[in-house]
Amino acid sequence: MPQHVWVDGKVVPADAPTISAFDRGFMLGDGIFETLRARRGVVVELDAHLERLRESAVPLGIALPPDDAPIVAGIAAILAAEGLADDGSSGRHPGDAALRITVTRGPYAARGLAPAGPSSGPTVVIVAWPHTPPPASVLRDGLALVTSSVRRDPGSPLAGVKTTSRAESVYARLEAERAGADDALILDTTGHVSEATSANVFAIRRGRILTPPLGSGCLAGTTRAWLLEHAPIHDLEPEEDELTRADLLRADEVLLSSSVAGIIPVGRLDGEAIGRGGAGPITLQLRDRREAWIEKASRGPG
Ligand SMILES: Cc1ncc(COP(=O)(O)O)c(C=O)c1O
Repeated sequence: MPQHVWVDGKVVPADAPTISAFDRGFMLGDGIFETLRARRGVVVELDAHLERLRESAVPLGIALPPDDAPIVAGIAAILAAEGLADDGSSGRHPGDAALRITVTRGPYAARGLAPAGPSSGPTVVIVAWPHTPPPASVLRDGLALVTSSVRRDPGSPLAGVKTTSRAESVYARLEAERAGADDALILDTTGHVSEATSANVFAIRRGRILTPPLGSGCLAGTTRAWLLEHAPIHDLEPEEDELTRADLLRADEVLLSSSVAGIIPVGRLDGEAIGRGGAGPITLQLRDRREAWIEKASRGPG
């Protein structure tokens, strides 16, 4: 467990009482967040994450600090406090961390859904954990997914917005757990594939790498963007297209992508094998390339 958290400008002990019982993030899931990876104290794709945080704030009208400096300083402070910022030059292991930035609308004493009355403003919390790679069994067998009964509504104004209201995703994860699977596949309201509970979905088939369009209500993942950009380097033709469950079952390989977990193979869907039923070789190659790219980026230019 982390020993510290960064709350509104200060590093405090993780078990210190820090959040108001009236905070709307706690009361209503009225907040937004980002999950990120930092290696050697360098945050991977920091600008893209901060831009997405700002975009998430817009539909909910959450007032972020006008510039990114306090959040950037907060990330550095919490990584240092948790001993996760080491650049590796001293012979120690380079820091490797998963980070979460949460911004809520803040505390409002008045009851009700509409934010009414005085407030001290948004609450900003940053937490860092040591990054843990997926278990060897996942890199050998791939994840087992089940199709969730939860549907993404692409017509919702909050589709693809990274709000802290994650009860549906938690429900889908519990469905997966009850079925003895690792994660859930979420379809949109038209029955097409949208994403997993906390990752984007890709299918590889005959030299093409396909992922659902943003119109499926999925998150515009940073790792998704990286894969679409880098696919041609790996002789894969990237395509954003509607996918069905059957398309995933017909694919040579299926993978999930996210900033913290990286590129992860999927071996089974609803008990049926995908491809040969284990981790796909192209997926593992893409995973290694992404990890090498992160390592290189963390060392800086030169
Ligand atoms: C619902 C959902 N989809 C996709 C992703 C992947 O996005 P990224 O690659 O930016 O981490 C996440 C990441 O947390 C997510 O929560």
